[in-house]
Amino acid sequence: MRVVLIGPPGAGKGTQADRLAASLQVPHISTGEMLRAAVRSKTHLGLQVADTLAAGQLVSDPTIQVLVKERLRLDDCNNGFILDGFPRSVHQAETLETILRETKHPLNAIVQLNLDDAEIVSRLSARRVCNRCGRSYHLINNPPLKAGICDLDGSELVQREDDQEMSIMTRLQVYHRQTEPVIGFYRKQGRLTIVDASGPIDDVLQAVLKHLQGTLV
Ligand code: AP5
Repeated sequence: MRVVLIGPPGAGKGTQADRLAASLQVPHISTGEMLRAAVRSKTHLGLQVADTLAAGQLVSDPTIQVLVKERLRLDDCNNGFILDGFPRSVHQAETLETILRETKHPLNAIVQLNLDDAEIVSRLSARRVCNRCGRSYHLINNPPLKAGICDLDGSELVQREDDQEMSIMTRLQVYHRQTEPVIGFYRKQGRLTIVDASGPIDDVLQAVLKHLQGTLV
């Protein structure tokens, strides 16, 4: 099962991708998390993209495309993947088609999580993430078992640098300007499914799973 999750910042892509990956037993590939991991480890790539991420702008297409191409070629993607955060521009969507043509594994589903801007700001302001594994929580809607501590690895939960109000606004603008055309790209191909992401986490998950099961029939 090869799935692209698309949607505005804070719509719940990471939250749903984690759960879908566990349910379908395929890897969750988050380009944002790959970049944040590079920033945390202070790799050459991390140093190169840190300011761009903090400002809420997109990193360059060549940089992200190399990263995705290498990741999708790993053996754990043979049975599928949940791709979260890519593609974010029509150019990236075309690149993904090319990569998947080479691997002869086309996408099964493209799911757009829909959420309005006011709810996005509210969700992102109360998001906390693990400073080691990057898992995302919400202070009210999706709290950790122990306040301030990651359920998975016991590390401290922190606020993402790009969850400051200024960066959230920039990310929303970038989404509307650069990423929304990707929705048109997939809609024209008749391959887009829209899921309302405003309900509780489990309801959204069930809606996505129901659609994915339909694609297998
Ligand atoms: P990325 O990490 O992809 O950020 P994003 O798209 O802005 O999405 P978020 O991670 O903020 O939100 P999400 O939709 O995953 O929501 P979440 O599940 O956490 O990218 C970060 C940066 O990396 C980019 O700005 C860019 O610089 C760079 N980048 C990445 N990919 C790139 C690319 N392809 N090209 C160029 N640059 C790229 O949920 C949000 C909160 O809501 C959480 O607190 C969660 O617990 C809560 N929540 C989730 N679902 C629900 C629900 N149903 N009800 C209530 N609360 C919920």
